[in-house]
Parts: sequence; structure tokens; C-alpha cells
Amino acid sequence: MNLENKLSSISKSAKSNIIRELLKVANDPGMISFGGGVPDPETFPREELAQIAKEVIEEEYKFTLQYGTTEGDNELKDAYKELLEKHEGIEGVQYDNMLVTVGSQEALYLIGLVLLDESSYCAVGKPVYLGAVGAFKQRFPKFLEIPLEDDGMNINILEERLTTLSKEGKIDKFKFVYVVPTFQNPAGVTMSLEKRKRLAELADKYDFLIVEDNPYGALRFEGSPIPSIYNLNPERTILLNTFSKILCPGFRIGIIIANENIIRKFSIIKQGVNLCTPTLTQRLAARYLQKHDRIEELKPTLELYRSKKDTMLEALENEFRNIQGVSWTRPEGGLFTWLTFPEEVDTLDMFEEAKKNKVLYVPGEAFYVNEVEKNHMRLSFCLPSHDEIREGVRRLKNVVEVYLNKKTI
Ligand SMILES: Cc1ncc(COP(=O)(O)O)c(C=O)c1O
Repeated sequence: MNLENKLSSISKSAKSNIIRELLKVANDPGMISFGGGVPDPETFPREELAQIAKEVIEEEYKFTLQYGTTEGDNELKDAYKELLEKHEGIEGVQYDNMLVTVGSQEALYLIGLVLLDESSYCAVGKPVYLGAVGAFKQRFPKFLEIPLEDDGMNINILEERLTTLSKEGKIDKFKFVYVVPTFQNPAGVTMSLEKRKRLAELADKYDFLIVEDNPYGALRFEGSPIPSIYNLNPERTILLNTFSKILCPGFRIGIIIANENIIRKFSIIKQGVNLCTPTLTQRLAARYLQKHDRIEELKPTLELYRSKKDTMLEALENEFRNIQGVSWTRPEGGLFTWLTFPEEVDTLDMFEEAKKNKVLYVPGEAFYVNEVEKNHMRLSFCLPSHDEIREGVRRLKNVVEVYLNKKTI
């Protein structure tokens, strides 16, 4: 069979995810992995979820084992609205402003389908969450990569790029800016309030939408919360929420909050993707949230993440302070820190050496669209123990030294 000529242009151009390939060795004996961005399974409230699962299947089977509406379970929406009001200060959200999706990843895919054509432009961070780019790329848009700084996307550069598009008569093709403003994946940095305000103003000035992807906002372990961009410009912001990092990713539940006209379009397109988000996990999550203040419950976990982040930053300081040109970000929440090495270091090239030394990271080049930078890596601190973090960073230093020595020989 000639499979090649059966394939669509998108599947011909699709490559397998570099992170997945590289991290296949993460479970090898003795390996210390700073790779995966997944929560600690011990934080999943499994006993109570098992109990609720039994109840909602036995007593509510007419709902939980049946097709649901495309828009999602209103009981879940009610419970989530309460959480948004209490913990994010987001008020006035109605059912029509909400769509329950199969994780935020589906929301990103729907955004591509609903907003992007080949002639469209969108702006993303540099670096950017690669899952978002993977979803948007399926529509072949043009990406503007806007450098990320310690306080979020460089808004001056964004404005310059928008001005240029305006002068070229292409601004009507510019659809949205995609940001993870709080504890960004991969860099761990948070956008300042000032930049959030400027972004919200630019959206009005140049008539574009903002995609505010917020999987990590509730994972703040220090510092003060910053208002969401949605609160600053609800008309133009598409806020993506997920249960993956606050409850459990296996439920595959996300909730889009946006103006009702946008939600209506998303719902129509979602019908063609999967009809509805699974009713069983929606009702399970709803019943759980009705009984528990999940954000309050997460506090001990966040304390653990904070102490692991401290251990990692301390270990980085101890091991790398004498190697010139190495720096790292200082996250106040979330799961990641981002290391930058001198330009001659190619972290993908160095990966084999890391595997030999039994330590894993995610090479930075996975997080760029066109203008790839090779001298970064993402480290996740939430899963390894304190001792493993210290030992892993020691191994990492050894890897870098061996790599640099080989390069200079
Ligand atoms: C920034 C960002 N957006 C979206 C997602 C997808 O999350 P979900 O599990 O809700 O599909 C992730 C997952 O890690 C993420 O880091």
C-alpha cells in the first residue's frame, strides 16, 4: 500500500514529540528524572474518589453512563464557579461562558480549529508550551515568537511586531496572543501585573484575543497572587482551566471560560471532535468539589513542592555558581525551573551524556517554534525526593563538565 499518498498534509508534517521519545528511559533503574511535568500520584485523593465513583455509577447511572451535553455538566460548572470566585476572584461567570473540555489540550485544539487559518498570525512566548504549538500547528498559521523575560512576555517587542503587521496591512489576520502568565511551562516565570494590563490594553487597541492558559495558577507556594488577565479584559480573554494539576490528570477535564459567542462556536466545533466530555469524570469531579475545598487541601502538597524547589535552587547554586554563564529562574509556584547555559552548550547534544550519568531533563529546543535556542533545559522538581534532587544536580554538573571538556578538546 502507498500509505504516503493517503496521508493529509498535517500528518505528513507531524513529528513525534521529542519529550516523549527522550523520556522513555525515565523509569530505568537508578535514573533520576527532572523530566516529566506530572503531579505526584500520592496527591490524588484515590480512596474518596473510589467511593464517589461507586455512588455516582450506582445511583446516577442515567447521567454518568449516558452521553452528556456538549457544553458540559452544570453541576461541575456550579462547583467550579465557586472555586473561581473564592480563589481567583473571578465573578459573574454564567453557564454560557463555560465549556467543559477533555483537558486543556482539547481547548487548545479547538482554539486552532475555531480561530486559525493558514493566513492567520498568532503570537506565542519564546520559549512556549510545546503542546499549544502542536495544537495550533495543525492549522498551519504563522507564529510570532515573542521573547520571555523574568516577568513574562516582552510586551514592547509584541507591540513592535503588531505595529509592523499593522503597517503591512495584515493586522486583521492577527488572531490571538497565547500566554501561560502564571508559572509558565517551561520557564516557571510569572507575568507582572503591569504587563498583564498592557497586554489587555493592546488587545483592545489592535483588536485581538488573549488565550490565558492557567494550569498552574493554583500551585502558588510563595509570593502574592496576581489578578488573572481574564479579570482585566473578560470580553477578549479565553481562559483555560484544568483539573490536571489540582485534582488528577487522568480525569481529562478542562474548562474554558470566555464570552458566550466564542463559547458557542467552540461548542459547535467540539461536536465534530468528540460530542461531549466524559460524563462520568465530570460528575465525579463535581461531587468531589461539592464536599472539599480542593485549593485548601492542596496546601501541604504545595509546601512540599516549595521545599523541593528550595532544595533544587540551593543545589544549583552549590554546583553551578563557579561555572560562568549558567543561570536559572526562581519560580514562586508550579513545577519547573529553566536553566540557561553558555551558547556553546547544546542540551540535546548533551543528552546522551546525561543518560549515561543517569539524570534526565528536557532539552530546551523542544519549546521553540522557528527560532530555536539550544542552550536551555527544563527541570521539574516535584517528583524526585530531596536527596535525589541534590544527587541529580550533582550528576548534571558532571555531565556539563564532561560535555564542555569534550567540546574544547
Ligand atoms: C501550559 C499547559 N497547558 C495545557 C496543558 C494540558 O493540560 P491538560 O492535562 O489539561 O490537557 C499543560 C500540561 O502540562 C500545560 O503545561
